[in-house]
Amino acid sequence: MLKFEESARIIASESRYVAGGVNSNFRLGMGHGPLVFTHGEGAYLYDVDGNKIIDYYCGMGAMVLGHSPAGVQAAVKQQVEKGILFAGQSPVEYEAARIICERIPSAERLRFGSSGSEVAQAAMRLTRAATGRRTIVKFEGHYHGWFDNILWSTAPSLADAGPAEDPNLVQGSKGQSMADAEGLDVLQWNDLAAVEARLSRGDVAAVLMEAAMCNQGAISPMPGYLEGVQAACRKYGTILIFDEVITGFRLGQKGAQGRFNVTPDLSIFAKAIANGFPVAAIVGRADLMDMFATGGVLHGGTFNSQPVPMAAMVATQQALTPEHYERTSVYGTRLREGIKSIFAETGIKAQVTGYELMFHIGFGLDAPARNYRDLAHADKAGYARFAGALLRQGVRVLERGAWFVSSEHNDDVVDKTLEAVRVAAREVAPTLPA
Ligand SMILES: Cc1ncc(COP(=O)(O)O)c(C=O)c1O
Repeated sequence: MLKFEESARIIASESRYVAGGVNSNFRLGMGHGPLVFTHGEGAYLYDVDGNKIIDYYCGMGAMVLGHSPAGVQAAVKQQVEKGILFAGQSPVEYEAARIICERIPSAERLRFGSSGSEVAQAAMRLTRAATGRRTIVKFEGHYHGWFDNILWSTAPSLADAGPAEDPNLVQGSKGQSMADAEGLDVLQWNDLAAVEARLSRGDVAAVLMEAAMCNQGAISPMPGYLEGVQAACRKYGTILIFDEVITGFRLGQKGAQGRFNVTPDLSIFAKAIANGFPVAAIVGRADLMDMFATGGVLHGGTFNSQPVPMAAMVATQQALTPEHYERTSVYGTRLREGIKSIFAETGIKAQVTGYELMFHIGFGLDAPARNYRDLAHADKAGYARFAGALLRQGVRVLERGAWFVSSEHNDDVVDKTLEAVRVAAREVAPTLPA
């Protein structure tokens, strides 16, 4: 059984300087408290208590090649020798751009940024400028960054959420006000009629969604849903934006749009695009993207296309070949199926849903969730106990149920993970509702 006493001691003492000891709220609140890591290699993280931990956080989905991939690190070392920030252009950013435009169906042109939150803002501004309309439609349970105008209804309690056919806008943080939600509308995802009805009013600039809901759960679009939303957008002059910050380079080389064969007008990417380096991209139709150049729409950022992360991105993309997905998918599928069998053996009622390199476990659900409200019935406390038991066995998973698999989670790592899952499942099964 692993212990995390040194992490706890450091977090307590460093909280004097760093609020809560962490630099993102999403690192607070785990059962064992935040952990402090010394290094990462392959599928493993090493912490200050001397623990070696199999990691399924994978940098919140970013580390699609695992920790410390040699090719990416070599590219970064080479680039950093050449300089750090030019406030101008460098060949490596054009190479990076060419790769994305050749790979991603919706990418006629792009602009780089540094975080998913930031490029979501660029997308919203662009669609408002292009349409002359104000309203952006988002969906309950979908997260598009932490900024005031979009952090709404990301994880509302069912008590606050209002009727499913007309959900309330629920703030995600203290400090937001209804004024910040001006121009935002929230709908239930996977309900085509709701989108068609809302767009028919003719005032919606953009529909913004994850094409597969992966920030909460791992929920696939219903057959025909994405195509139907796209058709409604075209009919009513609304721009369709896919947020591929998680799904990009994880559901396949061409992202969710390639996997489901629906090409949006705009998409945003971050996380796995550069295997943990701070790169994000807004990509899309040339006529829209050119508004940044000649249409009076401002997009800026001191760190945009910084050459070192760009070099990391090129090396990452070079590694993300079709063979990479084929090979890695075998491990991910084996892991997911192994977990399902262990839950069946130990009598744990759960839905294990999703994809090869990203899946989700919802305890207590009778059927796969179709939207946020279905997912909200999962036994979160029970799953958090399971995640805690797993961590004590040396396997780190997100308490919200997501598992991110990298190319380093090979057969040996999967075997070790399944052993830990068996022990943790036996430990928590008696504590779960029958
Ligand atoms: C779907 C989705 N969109 C946007 C974001 C925001 O990205 P970032 O954390 O890089 O600002 C996230 C982050 O988790 C995300 O999951």
